[in-house]
Amino acid sequence: MSDKLNDIEHTFHISRGEIKKFMRDFHSEMERGLRGLSSSLAMLPTYAGRPKGTERGNFLAIDLGGTNLRIAAARLKGRRKMGSYVSDKFVLEKKHITNTGKALFDFIASCTRDFMARHKINLKEKHNIGFTFSFPVRKKRISEGILVGWTKGFSARGVKGKNVVRLLNRSLEKYIPRTSAIAITNDTVSTLVAKSYEDPCSDVGVILGTGTNACYYEKISNIEKLQTSGISSGEMIVNIEWGNFNGFKRTRFDRALDRASENPGRQFLEKMVSGLYIGNLAGLILADFWNCIKPKDFKAEYISEIESDTQKNLPGVNRVLRRFGVQDLGLSERKMVKKICAMVSVRAARLAAAAIASVVTKMDPALAKKHTIAIDGSVYEKHPGFSKLVKLTLKEIFGERAANITLKLTKDASCKGAAIVAATLSREER
Ligand code: BGC
Repeated sequence: MSDKLNDIEHTFHISRGEIKKFMRDFHSEMERGLRGLSSSLAMLPTYAGRPKGTERGNFLAIDLGGTNLRIAAARLKGRRKMGSYVSDKFVLEKKHITNTGKALFDFIASCTRDFMARHKINLKEKHNIGFTFSFPVRKKRISEGILVGWTKGFSARGVKGKNVVRLLNRSLEKYIPRTSAIAITNDTVSTLVAKSYEDPCSDVGVILGTGTNACYYEKISNIEKLQTSGISSGEMIVNIEWGNFNGFKRTRFDRALDRASENPGRQFLEKMVSGLYIGNLAGLILADFWNCIKPKDFKAEYISEIESDTQKNLPGVNRVLRRFGVQDLGLSERKMVKKICAMVSVRAARLAAAAIASVVTKMDPALAKKHTIAIDGSVYEKHPGFSKLVKLTLKEIFGERAANITLKLTKDASCKGAAIVAATLSREER
């Protein structure tokens, strides 16, 4: 049993040399993506820039793309300050995300109307919405987003290839005719914009949650594929869509997980790093030893529960495994279970750090300047030891210079950032 585990552990280990290779490959995929060549990194222009900090006004915001739907009302005061802010969560059930696009957007519109009624926002007045839609979209302007493909288990029909702002507005028209979405962003972009609004030194936005991705400020002159668009100076946020990066070794467990997923052949990095998959991955390894375990039912929360069990006899491990019909294990087996969970989360944290390191060195190869990374997501925030491991790995990669990278947990920024992006549009554009 332990030989078998050692072999598996070996395939999950990522050496320092492999991290270096990861970074080289990541850079070349970034370059290819920026030039418009085929690449696992889409490098999507977002048409969002650095906020000035003076943006102001009242906006609604909708955030779709995680476990819940979130709707908010934000007042921006200008002077880098957010005024009043209220938000509500709505549970997204499987039927909402796997039925038709029309059903999904009608549901969002009806929740928005309920939200406005609950918070006494006049339904008859005109309101502008910033829409955070956390999936890959192609766009030629801030108010448009053509869905490239669903991720994270979403599969609503009739949306891929369509402008989701138009689909949302069509549904809103039925419920709250004077209210419409005027801007669309990604959760990484909203997180970066919200942080930059307060702190102009921020330059990367990262999500490590249900899914994973990042964005950063890129010089427009470096986004070669934009060169025919007539925009040539300044900077623009590029949505990397790093969840799809595929330039490194996978284990037989990664391959099995991918085959059984909603989107086989895509999102390889996401399937190794993010909350929607790491539980499933640990479940697949555990099922190799205890076949009554159903990998699909093994959630990331269970890894967290097991890894936070620091008592000598590891009672938490038995507590979790009993739910899967595995009766009281001996101490050495409990230790094995804990080791399996650690293998998955250590690899996830090291890969996340390698990806962050790649983005920062794309902007600043010698890491000569200070960089603030606005980061959010359940895995980064809540998974035991995860944030610490990311920081340790950055130190392993950069040594003392790692001090130039500050990771700032930026919570609930998805709606705030969308409101700020909506506010960057001039009144005439609105
Ligand atoms: C999506 C990204 C998103 C990330 C984090 C991925 O599955 O493709 O657009 O930013 O999840 O939510």
